Amino acid sequence: MRIVLLGPQGAGKGTQAQRISRQTGAKHISTGDLVRAEIKSGSELGQTIKGYNDRGDLVPDEIIVEMMKPYLDEAHSWILDGFPRNESQAEALDAMLKQIDAELDAAVALEAPDDLLVERLSGRRTSESTGNIYHAEYDPPPEDPEEDPGPFVQREDDKEEAIRHRLRIYHDQTEPLKDYYADRGILATVDATQGISEVTEDVLASVEKKS
Ligand code: AP5
Repeated sequence: MRIVLLGPQGAGKGTQAQRISRQTGAKHISTGDLVRAEIKSGSELGQTIKGYNDRGDLVPDEIIVEMMKPYLDEAHSWILDGFPRNESQAEALDAMLKQIDAELDAAVALEAPDDLLVERLSGRRTSESTGNIYHAEYDPPPEDPEEDPGPFVQREDDKEEAIRHRLRIYHDQTEPLKDYYADRGILATVDATQGISEVTEDVLASVEKKS
């Protein structure tokens, strides 16, 4: 399985990629997680990209492409979450796939209206120890520390101003990728306003249809 998950911030790309990875064994590759790990490491690169992340701006393409390259080579089966985000990144992905003689099975676009997304992101909590994603109301963190010890924190870029800014960038730069993949006959769309399990079922069914 080689799939790209497209969709606005808060549509559930990370949530779905984690679930599908657990169910299928495909590797979950999240450029957002790579960016946050680099920032947390305190490296020079991390310091360079922190400002982009906190403002909700895209990190420059050449940095992102270099960061994720090794992960594509490493696994045969993967789910890309948060990459590509514009046409130049989509072309870079095509070139990398060509080099490893691989093809995408599907690009799945999760669709939901902006107001719902702001509500989801405002309630998002991420476990600092496991990276698991929860929502204060819709998918609360477990109370049993053996299941997930937490702590459960709010992301720096989940403030309303940064969320609205990220959504504008999404509509402007990332949404056009739907046409990019539709032209190749590999785009599937899924209604992401449904419950988490229903969305997972629809994503898996749409990938099955396209492969
Ligand atoms: P990234 O981490 O990718 O953030 P994002 O794109 O803003 O996406 P989100 O993680 O906010 O949304 P999601 O769709 O994954 O939602 P989630 O599943 O968590 O990127 C962060 C930053 O890194 C970027 O701003 C940029 O600076 C940089 N970056 C990353 N990739 C880059 C790239 N390619 N190029 C340049 N820069 C890049 O769900 C959200 C909440 O909703 C959770 O609380 C969840 O529990 C809840 N939820 C999910 N699904 C449902 C449902 N069906 N019903 C109810 N609640 C739900």
